[in-house]
Amino acid sequence: MMTIEAHSQIADFYKWRPAYAPSFFATAAQKLGLTADSCLLDLCCGRGELASGFSRFCGGVYAVDGSQRMLDNSIAMPGITYLLHDVNNEDISLAKPVDHIVIGSAIHWVEPQSLERLVKRNLKPQGKVLVTHTLMTIQNQPWYRGLANLNATYGKVGASRSVKELGGADRLAACGFSNVDGLRLGGPATFDVEYLYRSQLSYLYGGFYDRVSADLEGYRKRLADTVSAHCNADGKLSGTLVNWGIVYGRVA
Ligand SMILES: C[S@@+](CC[C@H](N)C(=O)[O-])C[C@H]1O[C@@H](n2cnc3c(N)ncnc32)[C@H](O)[C@@H]1O
Repeated sequence: MMTIEAHSQIADFYKWRPAYAPSFFATAAQKLGLTADSCLLDLCCGRGELASGFSRFCGGVYAVDGSQRMLDNSIAMPGITYLLHDVNNEDISLAKPVDHIVIGSAIHWVEPQSLERLVKRNLKPQGKVLVTHTLMTIQNQPWYRGLANLNATYGKVGASRSVKELGGADRLAACGFSNVDGLRLGGPATFDVEYLYRSQLSYLYGGFYDRVSADLEGYRKRLADTVSAHCNADGKLSGTLVNWGIVYGRVA
């Protein structure tokens, strides 16, 4: 079982995760029917990746995370109130109920009973829950196998989380919600080797964190040696940026 400390360890690197596209927020805001009066809860907000993207489409956002170090790295913007709470170990009562809850790359960290308690206390009756994720797909790139092998030598185990787990349908169903809408945006992206190195640091968990953080320069050099031959004439590698979201509404 991973603790919040594991998130704190990568807080300084988290800004290098693939960003949500600006068009993602515009589309999601439309699907949620956001107005200047709307208030959101960004649950397990990290640095406020969702809170900051949605802030211009609504009146205010409560952004809750259990890691002080994540919040130390948070994106300060008008209208966002950052709050330190462990969703699984505290009864969270916001100053007022919110219109909608948004959860980015984090529904799998929220225990089903915690989600139910939080929703009951803090979400308006017509409120929706948006579960979303952003990722750079690189598995079909010719250099991917080399990168995966390198990461394995540094203790990375297991595959990425499944879309089912990240989508949270089971957890939402247990609270009486079902899928009512969705969105998927993205497209081809290019980046340099340094970006690839930094983005790998933003996914360091467990033994992978221990081994890479003890040899940052060695890891950086080996990664460059592994992928550089695949860069195009501009020194870039390719991937596909994908932002997806599932909108859940209360079952009537
Ligand atoms: C993968 S990050 C997602 C950050 C951001 N929402 C995003 O879309 O990129 C997961 C976040 O969940 C937070 N988290 C994990 N367990 C938590 C808990 N029990 N209570 C509050 N936050 C938690 C971590 O501290 C971390 O910031």
